[in-house]
Amino acid sequence: MYKNPIQRILFVFTFHFCIELLTTNSRVNKCLIEEFRQVQQREEILKKVIQSFINMATYESFSDIYEGASLTGSLNQGTFIASFFKENLKYKGSVITRQIDIDCLMNLRLDLKKPRQCLREIKGKPGYVQFLTRCIPDKGTWYVFIEKATKYIRPVMFKSKVKDRLNGAESNTKEKGVQVFFLYHFLKRGIIFKSINVKVSGKTSKSTVKHIFEIQKDEKLYLTTELDYAFMFKVFYRPRVMLNFLARTQYNVSREISEYIYVLSKTSREQKHNINTTEWTYSFSHIENFILNSFSDAKKLVYVIFKSIFSKSLKFLDEEIVTSYIVKTIVLWRFEDSNLIYFDDWLNDTRIWETIDILFTDLQEALKEGFLKEYFIPEINVLKRFDKSLRDNCQKRIKNIRTNLKTILLISEISEARNILEELLLLFYDGQTYQTLEAFVHNLDPPIHHYSLFH
Ligand SMILES: *[C@@H]1O[C@H](CO)[C@@H](O)[C@H](O)[C@H]1NC(C)=O
Ligand SMILES: *[C@@H]1O[C@H](CO)[C@@H](O)[C@H](O)[C@H]1NC(C)=O
Ligand SMILES: *[C@@H]1O[C@H](CO)[C@@H](O)[C@H](O)[C@H]1NC(C)=O
Repeated sequence: MYKNPIQRILFVFTFHFCIELLTTNSRVNKCLIEEFRQVQQREEILKKVIQSFINMATYESFSDIYEGASLTGSLNQGTFIASFFKENLKYKGSVITRQIDIDCLMNLRLDLKKPRQCLREIKGKPGYVQFLTRCIPDKGTWYVFIEKATKYIRPVMFKSKVKDRLNGAESNTKEKGVQVFFLYHFLKRGIIFKSINVKVSGKTSKSTVKHIFEIQKDEKLYLTTELDYAFMFKVFYRPRVMLNFLARTQYNVSREISEYIYVLSKTSREQKHNINTTEWTYSFSHIENFILNSFSDAKKLVYVIFKSIFSKSLKFLDEEIVTSYIVKTIVLWRFEDSNLIYFDDWLNDTRIWETIDILFTDLQEALKEGFLKEYFIPEINVLKRFDKSLRDNCQKRIKNIRTNLKTILLISEISEARNILEELLLLFYDGQTYQTLEAFVHNLDPPIHHYSLFH
């Protein structure tokens, strides 16, 4: 009946709905976890779809600059929907935030002959390195982004050039393209609308360049997609921080991926105002992805619920400082403990909630002490930007919500998150068929220029 695999999957899913929803109160909790289980399955599919899309897009357009791109962050690590539960003021008519964050690791093509001699560690800042300009080979394309006048390469310059490209004339073309695509998508899906407006822009953040797509339907914000590009290159050696980590970790990290480390172009707060400084950091993101993907389904479920509750009930205290990196750090430390195996039961809701409660205890401890060791480089305090009053506020809030963790998230919110995932799958599906149409549109007079989401 359904020729397309995604349609077939969605069709099967609709039969898994939650019967308990209509019965007693205690069952509502059980149902909540059931909703999450379903979301978890859809996330897995979406991850595969988007991953193959990213591979294709970078392969086609930037193969001289990038070795490839891969999915990282929450979609890669099974906690994609958690950010939907942030306080929602912008999206009228929706109970959750319709903001899609897709993190991409852009793997720069850069073969350093002697990486050790190109990178200088910075004293007093574990994990930070300076990268010598003279190491950039004269061949290759991406060095056009690099300023050769300074001794060390400044990521802030590099990133702002990428950002400028995203904001230039190209963004107008993209806006038109996305608008036509949504027109197609809405018409195809029978979604009624009066107008579609699209705004495309580029912005730099501390570690990434963001490519932001804001879609308005009938003059109200409908969907925001932020593609977050982190620029890194691989070096095949193990710096001290890596050796320390490998000696310490209880996770079974495969040999293959522990042979190299990434160097990430980062911009610190100070650096934004001082072009003389330069900051790159070692990044363990490939190892982080490896570990989090090796979690059992039960652990993944605990992680996504923990993070969702955190997003909804703590983030608003300070969006900039109360970040989900804290959640990840707590999870990485706690799940390293092999005694936790007792809780590893995907189908036992009692144990799922017990484990979530353990994680909140860990978080309370860390806030009380004002110190949370970064998982890969424990000299770093993940809570260093928290002042006393923010720590107190967080602790109070946690004490409050812990009395009834099960009631923080609403079934209606989670179902809506699931709907968004399904809509995204349909968008990607329509994107494919749209390309055929696009070829036709391209030949119209006047032509509408080539468009694709990722290049
Ligand atoms: C770690 O993983 C390797 C293969 O990746 C496997 O052979 C080995 O048995 C694992 N060790 C443990 C302690 O799980
Ligand atoms: C950068 O360095 C130059 C030369 O050393 C100096 O004149 C300038 O003030 C510095 N700029 C900043 C923002 O520190
Ligand atoms: C689920 O876990 C709880 C608490 O650990 C335990 O008492 C209960 O027997 C478990 N239920 C099943 C069906 O295993």
